[in-house]
Amino acid sequence: MPGWEIIGKEESNSLKKLFKDGGVLLAHGFNNYRKNYHVREFEQRAKKFFKSKNALAVTSGTAAIKIGLKALGVKKGDKVITQAFNFIATIEAILDLDAKPIMVNVDKTLNMCPIDLERKINSKIKAVIPVHMLGVPVELNKVCKIANKYKVPILEDNCESVGAKYKKKYLCNFGEVGVASFDHAKTITCGEGGMIFSNLKKIDKFCREYHDHGHENNSNYPRGMDTRKIYGFNYRMTELQGIVGKVQLTKINRILSENKKRYNAIKNNLSKEIEIRKIPDHSEPVYDTFIFFIKNKKQKKQIINFLYKKGVGTKNLPDAIKWHCASYWGHALPANEVNHCKKTFDILQNSIAIPILIKKNINLYKEIGKKISKLYVK
Ligand SMILES: Cc1ncc(COP(=O)(O)O)c(C=O)c1O
Repeated sequence: MPGWEIIGKEESNSLKKLFKDGGVLLAHGFNNYRKNYHVREFEQRAKKFFKSKNALAVTSGTAAIKIGLKALGVKKGDKVITQAFNFIATIEAILDLDAKPIMVNVDKTLNMCPIDLERKINSKIKAVIPVHMLGVPVELNKVCKIANKYKVPILEDNCESVGAKYKKKYLCNFGEVGVASFDHAKTITCGEGGMIFSNLKKIDKFCREYHDHGHENNSNYPRGMDTRKIYGFNYRMTELQGIVGKVQLTKINRILSENKKRYNAIKNNLSKEIEIRKIPDHSEPVYDTFIFFIKNKKQKKQIINFLYKKGVGTKNLPDAIKWHCASYWGHALPANEVNHCKKTFDILQNSIAIPILIKKNINLYKEIGKKISKLYVK
């Protein structure tokens, strides 16, 4: 989340340099008018950092999901499973392909419940999209095992957890495809932007061509004479975003470690009686959100008011719950899928999410932990 908090001088200097060097804003071509290919460099650096074989920059995380699903062969009428605590974008990407979203509840990890997945999956499902919500990895051991059993490919939606690891490996390396978002609210940002990771050459090739009108970027020809086998669309990232993305990537380790200190400041000062979000074993989250559960409505209100007074707020839960819980998505989902999400609705009704901001002093988070403990009555 805090990429936007520490955006400024370095990004601004790099943009000035981009214009000084010719100001080519397209990721491709104009070879004689430029010194660098920033989007391509951003891809190379992201690929190296997140240890994936391929990385492709695109216009947004939403576009990345849609292109990734297309690469998996999802088409009209196909069923795609995803989870009920999510962002509407994942559902929109499925619907934009005229496919059908099938909803699975979340559990106390606030990510895909493997037990509910097992109930809903069968070998006719075209893809499963586990979503690593608010910085925390899905229980990938279990989810991947189930999907593999039915031979259903996985697209990891990692828009909200860029930088998190599971079993010491960065997310986006566990399924056939993984996607990231760099919109303004994400771990690192370039305003709008996304990335598609895949360790499969075939998937990367399709996404690369599809996002760029079918261009094969054949090095034997100038761009205007480029070769093509498929038609595509335009989901290209611009050089403006690419150069900002490169700078932000250099800040990610600082962001992750500052997040963790503040997360632990809340945790270490919070009464042990308060139930907190379950973090799956083997995971190293982004620690950009601290989530806990309060059943008592009056207490919940008092705690939320306190968080507002402190200038912190409650992020998605409950601030933006209507955009993140499928129970509110009757405009996009059939009634049976909306109704299935009742369990998720109940869990989210009792959840409070504290955003971690790294420009805020650690003492504030200690104070928050202590005060919430005081307001909590069993
Ligand atoms: C879980 C999830 N998926 C997808 C997206 C879409 O990303 P973008 O805003 O880059 O289109 C978001 C963005 O908020 C998200 O939180």
